[in-house]
Amino acid sequence: MTKLDKYSKISILWDVPSQLPWALGSSPRATGQRTHQKADRSVLDNRRILLIVSGGIAAVKVPDLIRRLRERGASVRCILTRAGAQFVTPLSLAALSGDKVYTELFSLTDESEMGHIRLSREADVVLVAPATADIMAKMAHGMADDLATTALLATDKPVIIAPSMNVMMWTHPATQANLATLQGRQITTVGPGAGDLACGEVGDGRMAEVPEIIAAVGRLLRKDNRNGPLARRRILVTSGPTYEPIDPVRYLANRSSGKQGHAIAAALANLGADVTLVSGPTHEPAPDGVTLIRVETAIDMLKAVRAGLPADVAVCAAAVADWGVSNPAPGKIKKGAKPPTLRLAPNPDILATLSQLSRGRPKLVVGFAAETNNLLKNAKAKRAAKGCDWIVANDVSPGTGAFGGDSNTVHLVTADGVEDWPTMRKQAVAERLAARIAEALSA
Ligand code: C5P
Repeated sequence: MTKLDKYSKISILWDVPSQLPWALGSSPRATGQRTHQKADRSVLDNRRILLIVSGGIAAVKVPDLIRRLRERGASVRCILTRAGAQFVTPLSLAALSGDKVYTELFSLTDESEMGHIRLSREADVVLVAPATADIMAKMAHGMADDLATTALLATDKPVIIAPSMNVMMWTHPATQANLATLQGRQITTVGPGAGDLACGEVGDGRMAEVPEIIAAVGRLLRKDNRNGPLARRRILVTSGPTYEPIDPVRYLANRSSGKQGHAIAAALANLGADVTLVSGPTHEPAPDGVTLIRVETAIDMLKAVRAGLPADVAVCAAAVADWGVSNPAPGKIKKGAKPPTLRLAPNPDILATLSQLSRGRPKLVVGFAAETNNLLKNAKAKRAAKGCDWIVANDVSPGTGAFGGDSNTVHLVTADGVEDWPTMRKQAVAERLAARIAEALSA
């Protein structure tokens, strides 16, 4: 098989435009669909979250929040305020968190089993969701008149709040002054967003959506991962396919799932790196704790990668289309008797561009070689031609399940030779590559 058809059938269809793989379905970007529930190992895995639920209508989103946090391997322990219990029951939170729900400051059993100090310390992060105007005011003024506010005053852990209230309450100078005080104390805020509010008014005050809250908690935990071997390292990762427009509704694409690139971004973030993931359209969920920049075309991917520099490391796992359409139609091409002829123009090679930067080249540039024949020979030639430091060579022959599947058999080609890795899940490949990167940077 030639290089032309490694990802799609474009090459053999060169002169038969009507057979081009025009993808007329909706893009994953547009639908935001998820194809699987269990995310790859998340920065939230094995982390303990103390979730304080105060009394706002957005408390109804808390059961889903708990479910999603636990899906990512986090354990969740809840404190429910008296007002919060008007919106969501302790029983439902206990069932979903799999833990006791704490409500009373002066509970003899709670204090003897788990004092409020211990409750606030036995967490990696404290999340207040929803955070009402009232609890924000109490936090800003150091009040401690119930279990939630006492735990917040006693904690030595990072705190993140997801405000939720009426727009007038949110924009009131008192709330804004309290917010400024809290932010001045390094308390992180997620949201609120604008939209229809439960009170019938419209404006700022809607609690951030669950995925947004989870991403913010992930970023906070990653920032807190100061002792990770990749702490303070900036790493750029490209992932997924690119979409090259033919007209406003059609595009040229390939079958890359983005699974391997996204897993690498997540694994690097788990080791404490500051990761920017530049991804073409995929169904993969955004990895927690990673800055995700969504792009469609190769040209936009290169722009986003350049904007992400300087970086210590770049890992180019994207299946960038080799060509874009040089004359995309401004309007939808009408189906006529004569099929249109597309002119293709070569796309920039992002890996080669990064590898050959004369100024600001990342210290370590890693590329991928997906091959079906002469894997190692081609991978070594690619490493030399592009000028990158490492190539992760993977066999994508039919039957290996590499393309779109969950496993990968790879060989790491470096200046020192070739390391053969056993067949592993893509997540394990990502973890091993992240560990090798950390090792290389510390050498
Ligand atoms: O040349 P080929 O596409 O086989 O090279 C694969 C490697 O180059 C991958 O790391 C891929 O991310 C990168 N690449 C790129 N920009 C291109 C083509 C490939 O970064 N236009």
